[in-house]
Amino acid sequence: MTMDASEDFLRTYHDRIPGSMARGTLAHPTSDGRTSYEFLAGHVAGASRVLDLGCADGTLLALLARNGATRLAGVDLSESELALARERPELLDADLRLGRAQQLPFTDDSFHAVVSHMALMLMSDVEQVIAEAARVLEPGGRFAVAVGAGVVPGGWLDLFLSLARPVFTALPPDRRLPRMGDRRARSREGLIELLTPVGFDTVSFEEITLELDGTPEQMWEAAVPSYYDMAMLDDEQVTRLREQFIAEASAVPRIGGGSRILVATTRLRNPETTG
Ligand SMILES: C[S@@+](CC[C@H](N)C(=O)[O-])C[C@H]1O[C@@H](n2cnc3c(N)ncnc32)[C@H](O)[C@@H]1O
Repeated sequence: MTMDASEDFLRTYHDRIPGSMARGTLAHPTSDGRTSYEFLAGHVAGASRVLDLGCADGTLLALLARNGATRLAGVDLSESELALARERPELLDADLRLGRAQQLPFTDDSFHAVVSHMALMLMSDVEQVIAEAARVLEPGGRFAVAVGAGVVPGGWLDLFLSLARPVFTALPPDRRLPRMGDRRARSREGLIELLTPVGFDTVSFEEITLELDGTPEQMWEAAVPSYYDMAMLDDEQVTRLREQFIAEASAVPRIGGGSRILVATTRLRNPETTG
C-alpha cells in the first residue's frame, strides 16, 4: 500500500493508540443525548449492506449491526484499529480491510450505503475517495458522512486552540503535522462541489455539536490531547501548554462549547428513475 506523508502519520498514530478517537467521541454526546455515531447511523437506517470509510475500531459498524445491517464492511489505514474492530462480537462476519479509501477493494454497486465518521476531511485526493464511494454504491444508494467543522466560538476548545496554534506553527518544518485532507470536505459548499459531479443528488446538511463541559482539568484530559498536532510536541511543550490552558481556563467561568460536526447526506442518482 503506497501512502503519502499524511496517511503515514495517521497509520502510525492510530497504530500506537487505537480506539482513542472513538473513546473521546463517545464521551461527548450531542445536546439531544445521542452520540454523533447514533446521529449518523440514523441516516442510513434500513440499509443492510453498508461500508464505513476510515472505520477505525468499528464503533460505527457495530452500532449499524445492532440496528439491523447484515453485511458490513470497513476500510482503514491502521491494522491496530482493525484488530479492535475484529474483536467486536457484532463484527465477526464483517469484511474489514486494511487499505486506502482511494482504492476500495470492493466490486461496483455492492453497497446500499457508504458512511464515514470524522475521517473524510482527513483524506488526501478526496475526489478519488468520492469517486470510489460512487462506484461501489448501487444506484440510489445512500452516502452519509460526518466531518469536523471547527469549534464553538468562545468555548473550551476555542480557548485551547488560541493557546496551542502559535505553538504548533512555531515548530520547525520537520516536526510539523503533515498537511492533511482537503478543506472542501469540511464545508457545505465544498462537499456539494465534490459530490455533485460524480452523480450524487442534492446534498442535505445538519450541524451538531459534541458538547464539552467540566473543569479545566477534565476538559484537557477529555478533548485536548485528541488533536493530532499534540503528537508533534515534546513533553516539555505539552506540560507548558497544559499549565497555560488550566490557568487561563480557571480564570473564566465554565464556558462549555465543544466541537462542531457537519453531517452531509445524499443519494447516488439512479439513471433509471431520473432519466
Ligand atoms: C479521526 S479517526 C475516526 C475513526 C472512526 N471513523 C471514528 O469516528 O471513530 C480517522 C480514521 O480514518 C482513517 N483514515 C484516514 N485516511 C484514510 C484513508 N485514506 N483510507 C482509509 N482510512 C483512512 C484513519 O486511519 C483513522 O482510523
